[in-house]
Amino acid sequence: MDNLISQNKLLNTRRSLLKAASISTLALVSGSVKAFSQGIDFKNSTDISDNDLYAEVRNQLMLEDGLVYLNTGTLGPAPQLAFDKISLMLKRLEANPAIENFGPMGSEMETVRDKVAKFMGADEEEIILTRNTTEGISIVCSGIKWAEGDEILTTNHEHGGAETGLDFLADTKGAVIKKMTMPYPAESKKQLLDLVKSSITSKTKMVLLSHVETVTGLRWPIKEVSEILKGKDILFIVDGAQAPGMLHIDLHDLGCDVYACSGHKWIMGPKETGVLYMKKSIQEKVNNVFITGGYTAYSRSSGTRNAPIIIGFGDVLDWHMAIGTKRSEKRCMELAAYCYDELSKVSGIKVISSKDPELGSAIVSFSLPETSDNGELFRSMRDKGITIKRLPQYNAIRISNHIFTTNDDVDKMVALLKEQV
Ligand SMILES: Cc1ncc(COP(=O)(O)O)c(C=O)c1O
Repeated sequence: MDNLISQNKLLNTRRSLLKAASISTLALVSGSVKAFSQGIDFKNSTDISDNDLYAEVRNQLMLEDGLVYLNTGTLGPAPQLAFDKISLMLKRLEANPAIENFGPMGSEMETVRDKVAKFMGADEEEIILTRNTTEGISIVCSGIKWAEGDEILTTNHEHGGAETGLDFLADTKGAVIKKMTMPYPAESKKQLLDLVKSSITSKTKMVLLSHVETVTGLRWPIKEVSEILKGKDILFIVDGAQAPGMLHIDLHDLGCDVYACSGHKWIMGPKETGVLYMKKSIQEKVNNVFITGGYTAYSRSSGTRNAPIIIGFGDVLDWHMAIGTKRSEKRCMELAAYCYDELSKVSGIKVISSKDPELGSAIVSFSLPETSDNGELFRSMRDKGITIKRLPQYNAIRISNHIFTTNDDVDKMVALLKEQV
């Protein structure tokens, strides 16, 4: 028995060494790894084709060899450069913790809000670095004035992370939550906007919508909803967990009051990173103990932060900017269109995402017939090296097509699906 254990240990050590060697080789092979990590701007570059660019992007990830990873909507894979930077920073921090954290490393951490602002079309003074989307929405919901009976308008397709903040308002301050029943797939922008218009009442004080819906990947026309709500004294919160990193984001143009997102999904950043945007004009309305010390990463009220992780997040933002956010969005939408078409050819399933690119996103979901169990499909895919997301309430599966995904990945998933349904 002991012999077996030591043999296994030896094997595991060999595997780790091989993996480490192959990762460092990857980092060394390509000159453009350095270019990316230094934040060189490829946005207007014509000398790098999409094929080369995204092959390189894929090379820079640390995903298991051969794994087909189609669940960025839950957690995105971070590039090697973030891992390297964080490891370096953790080491530096532990060499002289207080001096680093409140000295050079602390200063570097404080530059990240500005990077986020540039990445998302906002001002630095409007950005708070959180741990995730849930925290961002909770900070706002637990920090606003509320009168018993005031209404929240939202949908029946929101994620539990956003609902936590709304439920808090209902449980502690008498908020009434009204959920619009979402059509799926949605037919048109007009259908969605009419739904909002007809659901607002004189008591509506907050509207919460997802920029990209977690279930079907529906892309809400946020700018148009902002127009509808303009001048109505209704706080418009957007749950952006599934959007930045996939879509090009310009917060000032979108016009919402609040936007919360995670860094560890489509942005592919370190885990436990997030952003809360609050438009200047509504900042006085939100008072939460976490932000009484101001919006800087470290303050009297936020306390000590994880500087290495936050700095690593900043580097991933540089990486996205180097790739180009509009270019990434285009790539994601092309992949999603391919995925949509291939899934549409599979008999027995129903694609529940919108085909219209204005309403769709890089997420394509499909529901299974009653005779198939999505748990079984999930496990069978997982065991064959394909990571997908199971949507238990809908007996459905969600596919996330990010810039590193290939048509070949989609083909493999579809081939296995055909064997199962
Ligand atoms: C739309 C939406 N909102 C919120 C969340 C929660 O994200 P986090 O756990 O990073 O707070 C998710 C997670 O999948 C989501 O899809």
